[in-house]
Amino acid sequence: MNKHKTILSLFDHSGAWSKPYKDAGYNVIRADIQDGIDVFEVMEDVIYQVVEGNEEGIKVTVYGILAAPPCTDFAGSGAWKWKDKETQPANYDGSKTIEFENTVEHSIGMVLATLEIVAQLKPEGFYVIENPVGRLNKLVPEVGDPWYFQPSDFGDPYTKKTGLYGKFNKPMKTPVLPLFGSEITNRLSSKQKNARSKTPEGFAQAFFKANQ
Ligand SMILES: C[S@@+](CC[C@H](N)C(=O)[O-])C[C@H]1O[C@@H](n2cnc3c(N)ncnc32)[C@H](O)[C@@H]1O
Repeated sequence: MNKHKTILSLFDHSGAWSKPYKDAGYNVIRADIQDGIDVFEVMEDVIYQVVEGNEEGIKVTVYGILAAPPCTDFAGSGAWKWKDKETQPANYDGSKTIEFENTVEHSIGMVLATLEIVAQLKPEGFYVIENPVGRLNKLVPEVGDPWYFQPSDFGDPYTKKTGLYGKFNKPMKTPVLPLFGSEITNRLSSKQKNARSKTPEGFAQAFFKANQ
């Protein structure tokens, strides 16, 4: 029933955020550099497909866009490193058609690429960009204002204050006690990068219910 509805899930290595859509039969396309798909290449492909589609009278449609871009240069929890970041060279070695002055510019570039993909595809249902509380909307004001939640608002008993930007229906909060405390300080070590950035399951389900 949902197979004609496409969800583009950017920066989604675990598949956790897009899983409820996949389970419900949506056509889910995931893109993450760890799986060999670079957001800048996705952007180039999307622009190409939309332009070509326009010429041939074919409309490229997507229902929703989920995006969880890297937060290392934005998250408040890393604020003590912000000063040094401006001089850290970007380690982006993708298509070589795009160059960045430093790691912050690279991170900003990934959010701008996301916004360009949204602008090109004009999703019918929603688009949403997720990032922990920090300076994302100061450095990229185009994203607009955040709506905040904690994983514990949706049944996962820990905290990691996170903002959602975009156009979407707000999921309904059903809070539980955050008995495991803060994810950043207590739960997982900084070496467990993928586990730390995995989208919480309760939130993913609640977001899906509000945006199907
Ligand atoms: C904050 S994590 C989000 C993880 C996600 N919530 C999950 O459950 O897998 C950011 C993700 O962006 C990916 N990433 C970094 N640079 C990228 C790029 N140029 N193109 C696509 N994905 C990229 C990383 O591999 C990482 O999985």
